Amino acid sequence: MAEVLNSISLTKSEKSEFLMLNLLKHPLLTHKLAILRRKETTTKDFRETLDEIAGLMAYEITRDLPLKDIIIETPLIECKTQELAVEVVLIPVLRAGLGMVDGISNLIPTARVGHIGMYRDHKTLKPNTYYSKFPDNLPGAVVMVLDPMLATGGSSSAAIQVLKDNGAKTIKLVCVVGAPEGIDRINKDHPDVQIYLAAIDEKLNDIGYIVPGLGDAGDRLFGTR
Ligand code: PRP
Ligand code: URA
Repeated sequence: MAEVLNSISLTKSEKSEFLMLNLLKHPLLTHKLAILRRKETTTKDFRETLDEIAGLMAYEITRDLPLKDIIIETPLIECKTQELAVEVVLIPVLRAGLGMVDGISNLIPTARVGHIGMYRDHKTLKPNTYYSKFPDNLPGAVVMVLDPMLATGGSSSAAIQVLKDNGAKTIKLVCVVGAPEGIDRINKDHPDVQIYLAAIDEKLNDIGYIVPGLGDAGDRLFGTR
């Protein structure tokens, strides 16, 4: 039986390599991830659960957002408080990343949303980019790349590169399930990018699927297979 890693034990040298990796642990995340993984889960339940997982992850991925001081008036008195000092841009990688947008934008309604269309060639596993459209505030924003699956890492790495080429400077990669190969790839290609995951799975199979994983995220989200 394949194993889902709940914690990773790393050697000292591996630790420094994995400093940019944030494995989010919470009983609700684990519970909801089991729903995503189950093969009987319907398209409707998959869609709702992925959205909920993204919402739960939002709490952690926004933990280091900067704040600025502001003065407001409560019904009683003027008071000094704080609000977000940075703009957030969400970049779902089509198709499956679309399933994470609402869960996060419900909590950050001011977030602007760009899109990257990308699919993996089934034979070479190399990503092909077929679409991109971004808001004009990428350079000053915290840019969150959304894709539930980090398998070989080819798609996420290419998406991050496209964003850097378009001026993005602060990029976070938010995935749900990651394979060690994908984490390694992002650490090597983009050592400046923080990776957020709800689970690190055991391995990739010989056709590049995460094991145990949850299958083809795009197909399960949109009911295309
Ligand atoms: C899936 C997934 C990622 C990619 C991960 O998309 O949503 O984008 O594969 O694999 P990688 O890490 O090896 O690149 P897919 O190419 O199946 O496209 P789809 O979402 O349109 O089905
Ligand atoms: N893309 C998916 O949707 N699932 C995998 O396991 C790997 C890539």
